[in-house]
Amino acid sequence: METNETFALLDATRAFLAKPKKMLIGAEWSDAASGRQLDVVNPADGAVIARVPEADERDVQQAVAAARHAFDAGPWRNAKTTDRERLMLVLADLIEVNARELAEIESLDNGKPVIVAQALDVAMAAQCFRYMAGWATKIEGSVIDAGMPYLLGSEIFAYTRKEPVGVVGAIIPWNFPLLMAAWKIAPSLATGCTVVLKPAEDTPLSALRLGELIQAAGFPDGVVNIVTGYGHTAGAALSRDPRIDKIAFTGSTQTGKTIGHAALDNMTRMSLELGGKSPVIVLPDVDLDTAAQGVANAIFFNQGQVCTAGSRAYIHSKVFDGVIERVAKLAANLKIGPGMDPATQIGPLVSAKQLERVCGYIDSGFGEGARAAAGGRALDGPGFFVEPTVLVDTTQAMRVVREEIFGPVLVAMPFDDVDTAVRLANDTPYGLGASIWSNDLAAIHKLIPRIAAGTVWVNCHSLLDNALPFGGMKQSGFGRELGRAVIDQYTESKSVMMNYA
Ligand code: NAI
Ligand code: MG
Repeated sequence: METNETFALLDATRAFLAKPKKMLIGAEWSDAASGRQLDVVNPADGAVIARVPEADERDVQQAVAAARHAFDAGPWRNAKTTDRERLMLVLADLIEVNARELAEIESLDNGKPVIVAQALDVAMAAQCFRYMAGWATKIEGSVIDAGMPYLLGSEIFAYTRKEPVGVVGAIIPWNFPLLMAAWKIAPSLATGCTVVLKPAEDTPLSALRLGELIQAAGFPDGVVNIVTGYGHTAGAALSRDPRIDKIAFTGSTQTGKTIGHAALDNMTRMSLELGGKSPVIVLPDVDLDTAAQGVANAIFFNQGQVCTAGSRAYIHSKVFDGVIERVAKLAANLKIGPGMDPATQIGPLVSAKQLERVCGYIDSGFGEGARAAAGGRALDGPGFFVEPTVLVDTTQAMRVVREEIFGPVLVAMPFDDVDTAVRLANDTPYGLGASIWSNDLAAIHKLIPRIAAGTVWVNCHSLLDNALPFGGMKQSGFGRELGRAVIDQYTESKSVMMNYA
């Protein structure tokens, strides 16, 4: 990798990085009870750019107590819905005002290109708060005619009301740190819940900056609390705390199951957005260039660290060679570099651990007989860079085809008939996303219901909108985020019957 010119950091970003980092618990910015800290690493060069508190169970318990108190005391739950809406809109504006700084923080912490971070992560986070602000004033129950045959002469007024579920424990991953924080905090705020957020240990910085903006917006103390720490300690303490009413988790399927078991012991509600191994189905009628660009974008966006990444391509044998040749060329031409370089298209993976994991998968593919049509190697350090990789000669049984790699690694296989494509696409424990590439309307409409996935894209991939529910089938989890659907996940329905005979 050549070293290139990079964007100069804003003074605000430098100032944020330089100051001591604390956690937001109630009204206070606190160190960990243990005094311990963990290093925050820039994956572009491996340098330590900050240190954040390493929370343990004591800190998490304090944060939960603060959120519990803020919920039970009622300043947020009983706030006028218009006030909830207004403060959320203020926060969205503050995110936009500080967009460049947030994007720089995200790029330095996660590795993603700063241009992408600003245009996508930060912009979508602001928009998520705005969209959810709209829901604050639109939460409705219904009036229901009760017709009980056993109560003669009764006059019953029956209705349902939606009430906030309570204290939300949010545990999020490192691939879209700010955006995932928004996905959990925004519906909590809209519905009148309070929240304890634990960002991923690899990417805690943007959540802490968001905490400052939340304070600046003027939310009551304790409504949002942010604790930084490891999953097996801080995350585990959060998921088993009986004062938490709902866990909202995004991350790996394995960790989701661990969290889900802990939560169920307390009958804590949960929504789990878990892993994926999303298929990309290319039908024979496609334009080769368009399809190849789509297939490449589906896997290489965000260095492949996307839960819906199109990581398995099933391409009709008539167009297989033409598409793969083009995808391989696109992969080889992607500009790899640090996120702060304006020319960068592929940044580093998030951590040394993730680099090792992704390279381990590529090697296992080679060991099982796969061949690289593009990429296949890590770059020499420093920094956790791996080449965009396209593996062919793969079979359905290989680990690279079955398991979530979470890196820029595509496996591609030809098929001859649509039934086979459907069978192979669905032959996975996951069911998060899928895309179909074709202009054959009849074929597309027939395929969509046959794919077991929470989202099916046609001639696009991994597009998300705040108004559309997002979530998975099978081992990709349960519950839906975003859209009207998420409001149900953050509220309880209460039925009321009133006898006025
Ligand atoms: P992870 O799922 O273990 O981590 C996600 C979050 O869960 C982090 O905040 C972490 O601190 C927390 N966590 C971990 N263990 C916990 C526990 N026992 N109790 C409570 N919270 C816990 O993912 P990790 O280890 O960062 O990455 C490993 C693999 O997981 C990746 O290579 C990728 O395949 C997959 N992954 C999938 C994601 C997705 O959105 N589908 C996101 C992140 C990782
Ligand atoms: Mg980092």
